[in-house]
Amino acid sequence: MYSEKVMDHFQNPRNAGELENANGVGTVGNAKCGDIMRIYFDIDDDQIIKDVRFKTFGCGAAVATSSMATELVKGKTIYEALEVTNKAVMEALDGLPPVKVHCSLLAEEAIHAALWDYAEKKGIVIEGLEKPKNDIHEEEEEEEY
Ligand code: FES
Repeated sequence: MYSEKVMDHFQNPRNAGELENANGVGTVGNAKCGDIMRIYFDIDDDQIIKDVRFKTFGCGAAVATSSMATELVKGKTIYEALEVTNKAVMEALDGLPPVKVHCSLLAEEAIHAALWDYAEKKGIVIEGLEKPKNDIHEEEEEEEY
């Protein structure tokens, strides 16, 4: 039911893990299944995504789409990354079964959430970027003694 590319990215995910020096981090939840994805960007002064990592708590299609999405945005400008839609990711993977299309939304929304976080930190506006609806903005928990 999955294409060879989906299986490849699921079995050998590219850019999995965390980035310590990330300056844009986006965490989103999938409203349909409750799965979660986080994307880390290291964006340089020319607004180019130098490095990217992802972590996902989701199904195989979510792993494959995030892996492919990281490949598509790496080395791109933030405006080019904004153009990486879930449709583009699915096409790059030679398609997904219809019941798995919603999984591909996680990657697109995580990219948008990470760009949003970067823009907030830098105090800039990225034209055309809307705040992702399923953004899970983690508040720093204050420990009480
Ligand atoms: Fe949740 Fe695929 S079933 S992301």
